[in-house]
Amino acid sequence: MFWQDLFGRGLPVVGLSPMDGVTDAAFRYMVAKYGKPDVIFTEFVSVDALHFTQGERRERLLQTFRFDPGERPVVAQVFGRTPELFAEAAELIEDMGFDGIDINMGCPAKKVSEQGAGAGLIRTPKLAQEIIRVTKANTSLPVSVKTRIGVTDKTEMEEWMETLMEVAPAVVSLHGRTLRQLYTGEADWETIARAGEIVHHHGGYILGNGDVKKIQDVRRKTLEYGVDGVLIGRGAEGNPGIFAGIKDPTKEQRLAWAVEHARKFEEIFQNLGVNYFMPVRKHLAWYAHGFPGAGELRQNLMMTNSAEEVAEVIARVV
Ligand SMILES: Cc1cc2nc3c(=O)[nH]c(=O)nc-3n(C[C@H](O)[C@H](O)[C@H](O)COP(=O)(O)O)c2cc1C
Repeated sequence: MFWQDLFGRGLPVVGLSPMDGVTDAAFRYMVAKYGKPDVIFTEFVSVDALHFTQGERRERLLQTFRFDPGERPVVAQVFGRTPELFAEAAELIEDMGFDGIDINMGCPAKKVSEQGAGAGLIRTPKLAQEIIRVTKANTSLPVSVKTRIGVTDKTEMEEWMETLMEVAPAVVSLHGRTLRQLYTGEADWETIARAGEIVHHHGGYILGNGDVKKIQDVRRKTLEYGVDGVLIGRGAEGNPGIFAGIKDPTKEQRLAWAVEHARKFEEIFQNLGVNYFMPVRKHLAWYAHGFPGAGELRQNLMMTNSAEEVAEVIARVV
């Protein structure tokens, strides 16, 4: 199992955190190429959608799970609230060649958590356990969980960790915020540290998550808070080189990345037809930051509709 190999090295494990609308196949390709973290997560995909979607729409959905061998080890993340659908998704994910399956128990978005999925599962511990059990029973891949420290208050963390550890997920990735906090305030690393003690007491592994913006902080965080590693999400936006230690990419680097990313995105997703290009624009805006003229460039990039247009807009400013 790849997690065991990673943790067995005795070094902090650093991963790209799953981000819906961000960690798609093109961005994961860029990250793997320019700073290869120890592990990469896909965006989350609904197990209900995997079950019910047919035809052309299914093809589109499965694009979310495309990956390049260079990303390995790569983990597919799913969300939902129906155990049998997780069982089905687990088989599909294993057949697709992923290295692991991660269950989202942390998403605070209303459309997810109010249905009882994502962080909503913290409210239904028995169901959360059932989902993990059923998923594990239907795959030989390691099954991990990504979650938050509670629904409304960090005092919920202890019971929640005990609940999870009873069914022994391969890894717990813990974002140090509650569901109610969404993305406000600061990630609570003290609570992550206490969660780490519980997870370790049960012989498990924990990755801390929240507000880590540079790779240079990973070692200190893991030592200070006693976790086995860290997931970085937003810190990688506009900087696929973050995992190689790049803190502040130069203008030249940013522009070169923007063009390459746009080309890769087009290569992968242009078969989706009209408007296929729109999702990559936010990445282009993230690249256009931190140098004179970046604001105007951003505006121009937001109007592009193809990789060629991106290359033209950028050629005017280099
Ligand atoms: C736009 C966006 C999309 C996200 N999508 C997911 C997701 O699909 N699955 C998940 O487990 N977490 C998701 N998250 C949460 C991140 O993985 C991570 O836990 C959170 O951003 C905190 O880490 P960071 O401060 O390093 O970004 C998302 C976060 C953002 C900002």
